[in-house]
Amino acid sequence: MRTLIAANWKMFKTRAEAQQTARDLVSLLQNDWPQERDVLLFAPFTALAATAEAVADSPVAVGAQDVYPAAEGAFTGEVSPGMILDCGASWVLAGHSERRHILGESPAFVGRKAAFALESGLSVMLCIGETLEEREADKLEIVLRTQLEQAVRGLSAEACLKGLAIAYEPVWAIGTGKVASEADILEAHAMVRNILGVILGSTAGSLPILYGGSVKPENASAILALDNVNGLLVGGASLRAESFSKIIRA
Ligand code: 13P
Repeated sequence: MRTLIAANWKMFKTRAEAQQTARDLVSLLQNDWPQERDVLLFAPFTALAATAEAVADSPVAVGAQDVYPAAEGAFTGEVSPGMILDCGASWVLAGHSERRHILGESPAFVGRKAAFALESGLSVMLCIGETLEEREADKLEIVLRTQLEQAVRGLSAEACLKGLAIAYEPVWAIGTGKVASEADILEAHAMVRNILGVILGSTAGSLPILYGGSVKPENASAILALDNVNGLLVGGASLRAESFSKIIRA
């Protein structure tokens, strides 16, 4: 399986800043493109088209950070899959923990987003992960199972193979500098693979599972070497092209 290294810029960067970062990244990578690595930038909606334009002649893909599960309609402030495709983006995040926990998105709503985005021709990175409270209450497996079941149960194997990636991001490791231990990552990623196997059968082995949460150039290669880790979803350390390019080459 190829390794997917994704940047989540969250609510950072104007159009000009996003374009500059994207161009800097392409020029840092272009003379010696890392083998077996795919690169993806989740840009804010307002900078989506500008980012896509900046990487248009490169293998870098672009995604949006959220999507609404309808083609169009009276949904003030929301953005449809068609609008995202129209900006030149091909991916979306669904269920990032900041949306689940700050904006109150339920597993069922995240599931509707993932299904509709896939049907509409976007690839989907479904984010899952437990809070510290849930981990301490021994609820890791039930949380991951609920989040995965609600999103993946209704999907066909073909749709999953064509466009689904999972990102395991323990909420307590996001933006805290507190990276999960190798044992924690191994355990959670094996759990995710098993749960996917129960839902999807043999298709589960082909779906990429990324790790996210305080990934830095210094810890990226050790995390990528772990079983069932097929890529990284990077927040803070993806905001600067130099640091993100080091992670891509890790
Ligand atoms: P940090 O890399 O800043 O911890 O963020 C992780 C994340 O939320 C990526 O989606």
